[in-house]
Amino acid sequence: MSRRPIIAGNWKMHNNRAESAKLVCAIKEAIQDIDKDALPEVVVAPVFTSLGVVSENICHCGCERIKLAAQNCYFEPKGAFTGEVSIDMIKDFGAKFIIIGHSERRQIFSETDEMINKKAIAIIEAGLTPIICCGETLEQRELGVTDSHIASQIVKALDNVKPSDIANVVIAYEPIWAIGTGKTCDSTEANRVIKVIRNTLAQIAGRENAEKVRILYGGSVKPETIKEQMAQSDIDGALVGGASLKAESFVEIIKGAMK
Ligand code: 13P
Repeated sequence: MSRRPIIAGNWKMHNNRAESAKLVCAIKEAIQDIDKDALPEVVVAPVFTSLGVVSENICHCGCERIKLAAQNCYFEPKGAFTGEVSIDMIKDFGAKFIIIGHSERRQIFSETDEMINKKAIAIIEAGLTPIICCGETLEQRELGVTDSHIASQIVKALDNVKPSDIANVVIAYEPIWAIGTGKTCDSTEANRVIKVIRNTLAQIAGRENAEKVRILYGGSVKPETIKEQMAQSDIDGALVGGASLKAESFVEIIKGAMK
């Protein structure tokens, strides 16, 4: 089963419109001459306020090498939900992906598995692809409950999602202790947990669908780590935070994930 790798940059709460335009243009320029089939699927997730300017610089000028993602959404289509953004509003910018369930959203903004499940269902119904994040804290790892915690997050996020739709979702395994700390999870250990995720997917959606799901690793991914990560059997790409804020390091990561 060959799964096309994804390298996604999660810009988090960085970059105003001018900075976002500059960054996406630099990425675009650096990869524009690379054979499309050799490239991984490249995704950037700016803040909501930069979706417009990034969209203008990729979707509107026919750049097929970079796809747009949002970092969050709300599951209701419209209404009295002050401060929230609907999936259709995000789709309006030409976005193809929406990151949901990031540990920062779970921990800082108290998002529950139930909310993440509602978001996943609504994103799939809208024809977009959710990038569903999961990951354990250091405490959970030390208690030896990593695998059961991750499996539970996956089962809950995908409750009531059709097996054929599960085949198209993207999962990001992001151990919380590795996010923004410079401490990358050992590649073989990340691959082991990702296999736990794939086996969980096989239990809920069948082996064939589970083999199609792209599962990314996230947590202090750097140009120096990507080759070893991509060499693992089940790691299908990366969700990159800090190193996606500089075109140079992000492009090096993209190149490290090329066929
Ligand atoms: P860092 O790459 O900065 O560790 O962030 C990872 C992350 O949270 C991506 O979503």
